[in-house]
Amino acid sequence: MTPFFITTPIYYINARPHLGHAYTTMVADAIARSRRLLGDDVFFLTGTDEHGQKVERAAQKAGVKTAVFADEVAASFRQVCQDLHITNDDFIRTTEPRHIRGVQALFEKIAAAGDIYKGKYEGFYCVGCERFWPEKDLIDGKCPDHKTPAQWLSEENHFFRLSRFAAPLREHIRKHPEFIVPDIRKNEIVNVIEGGLEDISVSRASAAWGIPLPGDPGQTVYVWFDALINYISGVGYPDTNGTFARYWPADLHVIGKDITRFHCIIWPAMLMSAGVPLPRTVLGHGWVHFQGEKLSKSLGNIVNPLDISERWGADALRYYLLREVPLWRDGDFTWDLFIQRYNSDLANDWGNLFTRTVSMVHRYRGGKLAVAEAGEALAPVIQEAWASYHAAFDRFEIEAGIEAAWTIIRRANRLVEEGAPWNLAKDPARAQDLDRLLGSLVVALQNTALLLFPVMPSKASLVWEALRLEPSIDQARFPAPGGALSPPPTGVVLGESKPLFPRIESK
Ligand code: MSP
Repeated sequence: MTPFFITTPIYYINARPHLGHAYTTMVADAIARSRRLLGDDVFFLTGTDEHGQKVERAAQKAGVKTAVFADEVAASFRQVCQDLHITNDDFIRTTEPRHIRGVQALFEKIAAAGDIYKGKYEGFYCVGCERFWPEKDLIDGKCPDHKTPAQWLSEENHFFRLSRFAAPLREHIRKHPEFIVPDIRKNEIVNVIEGGLEDISVSRASAAWGIPLPGDPGQTVYVWFDALINYISGVGYPDTNGTFARYWPADLHVIGKDITRFHCIIWPAMLMSAGVPLPRTVLGHGWVHFQGEKLSKSLGNIVNPLDISERWGADALRYYLLREVPLWRDGDFTWDLFIQRYNSDLANDWGNLFTRTVSMVHRYRGGKLAVAEAGEALAPVIQEAWASYHAAFDRFEIEAGIEAAWTIIRRANRLVEEGAPWNLAKDPARAQDLDRLLGSLVVALQNTALLLFPVMPSKASLVWEALRLEPSIDQARFPAPGGALSPPPTGVVLGESKPLFPRIESK
């Protein structure tokens, strides 16, 4: 089995999980699930970023000890994973001893390579971003992202010689066109590197809630330097045998476009310095907005993803976000569009194909299929859908993968209208036509269930079970290129025809 290591960013725990965090995690989950169906040995890592002043202040505001606060919020991120059916293999917290060990070890390696030196940091810092800002980028002394005053810092810090890595980074990006996707993000990064890289401060004298710096315990490791290392401490680093040897380098870091500089400049430079191989691909996706506005605490539009999934199901939310927010641009969550998509795509198209097919098999054939073949009309549509689905997932275009499944759904629904099974059922001379039609509808459903499993795992499982398919869907495999799934069983009674997605009448 080919190993495939995929990660999400680790989330700050100063606030509860929102729709944007859920989106990144769902993207990674859909890709992880699709890789498992391809037969890969997937390791999927997510977690929480718990150090830094931002978290410390949030805990103070909540009036609890930082460690207690961290436990509580980290638990809510774990809960989101569970409730949204995320199949992460591990969940790393930066306060865990295994991570602290990894950070200190990598820091020591970088120091041993001569890339750490002591100096004075004087400049601005935004606690919201946990980053240093050059004065020229501030607007009236305020952070351009958080619109809050940046803090003036003057400290003895340890610096990382980032400037040394501009040429090797440029070379790496040139040689590995797949390193940063999509291109728009790559171009941004290339521009930043060409503008020149300055050394960065990687320790803090005044931030107590952090990992003590090896060799200078009065300082803590800068929170980003600490956080990035989760990608290797999560697979066992500094132990480079076992899990690390199996899965590193990561195949894919899924992140939002806000943090590409950290992942495409600082992180690979740290690894280069320490002599650790670089991740293969960093995917920087766009932003999820809510009703046209940026998700923000001050606008009070922070949507808890669990409020949506509790009411309408995790699959509906996964479907909406993965279909409406392609990775290469920003997208919007609006209630109107959510309800519209739910009713038209899920209830009417896929849900209806499922209920009408299964109920006809029960009504006309006592629940058993006599034939289970795609048939002339559907076989080519199914073949083509698989080809475009794989091509889409290879480009991380999950929405195009979903669309490929929909070509089967639409064609199958048309086949019902054209074939008019209710008429065939009245005519004994056309019994075989009816058997063939029902068989091809079931094959269509089987294929859509597997195609959509990465996006809507629980509804796809329901369909799979109702069709009495084996092995269970999470053990199933995609058909080989140009091949087909083995046909559904004939002669066994199908499950009940329950509505997959009961229509939403009002919000
Ligand atoms: N802790 C750092 C990441 C360290 S990774 C070594 C961090 N955390 S964060 O919680 O602020 O954001 C993490 C990620 O959440 C973003 O990169 C992005 O993937 C996702 N999103 C947060 N808000 C988002 C939207 N509104 N829309 C889409 N994704 C967003 O940065």
